[in-house]
Amino acid sequence: MPTPTALAADPRLLAALAAARADRAGALARLVELLRIPSVSTVPEHAPDVRAAAEWVAARMRAAGLTGVRIDDTPRHPVVYGERIVDVSMPTVLIYGHYDVQPVDPLDLWQTPPFEPTERDGALYARGSSDDKGQVMANLEAIAAWEATGGLPVNVKLVIEGEEEIGSPNLDAWMRAHAHELAADVALVSDTAILAPGTPSIVYALRGLCYVEIEVEGPRRDLHSGQYGGAVANPANALCHIVDQLLDQATGRIRIPGFYDRVRPIEPAERAELARAPFDLGAFGGATGDAGGWGDADYSIVERLGARPTLDVNGLVSGWTGAGAKTVLPAKALAKVSMRLVPDQDPDEIVALITDYVATIAPPHVEVTVRNLHGARPALADRDTAAIRAAAAAYEIGFGQAPYYMREGGSIPVVALMADVLGIDTVLMGFGLPDDNLHAPNERFVLDQYERGVDTAVAFHAALAAGGGEGDDPVAARR
Ligand code: BES
Ligand code: ZN
Repeated sequence: MPTPTALAADPRLLAALAAARADRAGALARLVELLRIPSVSTVPEHAPDVRAAAEWVAARMRAAGLTGVRIDDTPRHPVVYGERIVDVSMPTVLIYGHYDVQPVDPLDLWQTPPFEPTERDGALYARGSSDDKGQVMANLEAIAAWEATGGLPVNVKLVIEGEEEIGSPNLDAWMRAHAHELAADVALVSDTAILAPGTPSIVYALRGLCYVEIEVEGPRRDLHSGQYGGAVANPANALCHIVDQLLDQATGRIRIPGFYDRVRPIEPAERAELARAPFDLGAFGGATGDAGGWGDADYSIVERLGARPTLDVNGLVSGWTGAGAKTVLPAKALAKVSMRLVPDQDPDEIVALITDYVATIAPPHVEVTVRNLHGARPALADRDTAAIRAAAAAYEIGFGQAPYYMREGGSIPVVALMADVLGIDTVLMGFGLPDDNLHAPNERFVLDQYERGVDTAVAFHAALAAGGGEGDDPVAARR
């Protein structure tokens, strides 16, 4: 099997890389076009834009050389599918990405409008630039480069969905209905970040998610707090009491009984390896204003961010929130609470645990409801597979350096789904950077990352076709 050096001399790969490099301006222009479409999946008014983005992606797939391209409707936003089956005896890669984006609020903090992509300091600023349109386009450009030269050395099937940012509610059913058609050897997802510019990393674990809403209802309507305060339970007070008991603020430990029962301990060898990864504490401190980090002191910041579960209030609504004072006893209070989960925690089980616990701690005289909004199962992949080795060889070609191996704190629901429904592992070969401002104002995609990303995606197909580059194991090389 070829080493990355041998791979880099493969004339077919060199031709595809040359084609990609000759069309950097075109690749950038195409990404800008896609970024102009405000495909915010959670906002109902944007449904036509989400549809327009699906149509744009389908057209681009056809132009890149994919066949059987179609847009499948779901109860909400469509899935775009396309494939290129070169030869059934070759390996088949299922490439997943999402063309939907997060909302843009708070809009006033954007330096340039979120859907008017703007180049600044070597980066392209726009909502969805890094998450995930830029990374989807890196893969599409790579396919186009192969198809414009000798043709792909592997079979590809593409699934680009429009509901990732709302928890992929319809993907499960769609995937089950098309499981036969989606058969593949491995999945490839580019929707994560590498450690730092010039320091590529492969993500081998993702956290899961359990997202609930806790609603506390009290009096029938808002009341004057002078007239009624003292003899009526206040839902806002009651909700704070509940939230306070979910988590120990001093240690970061979650207090829900049974919450940690299924948490797999981090093996000492993995802890040692994570400790060696060049995690940028300075950038962490810069982004958060607290380089020391909050949380469970028994674990390093890297471990807390990727390998340990969390509980966070993501939103709180109740009473008077305008300027100045208003003496009101609110009728209702609502908290949005999400928990990031790690292997082998199960979102359905966690919903049951938090629901039972909240029922036991809920104060009297109010009505408390826990509603499940969405969930995703955590994922943990074997790092010693042919496809992971192919990704490592590809990063060496695209970035000139072997990758580190990292756990990612975010969630991508499809990864556990593909393991379940299709029985395949996923390679998380991301091209973003930790400070891309995902889900925040001024999201950006660094243009050098886009170019390295296209090259890495081009190289991945050659490396996979060559058998994953056995004989040159960068995991072993790091030990
Ligand atoms: N691309 C992200 C996942 C991610 C987050 C990767 C942070 C790397 C760093 C993805 O689009 C995302 O935001 N996922 C949601 C999933 C949820 C809506 C089910 C998340 O993690 O909050
Ligand atoms: Zn996202």
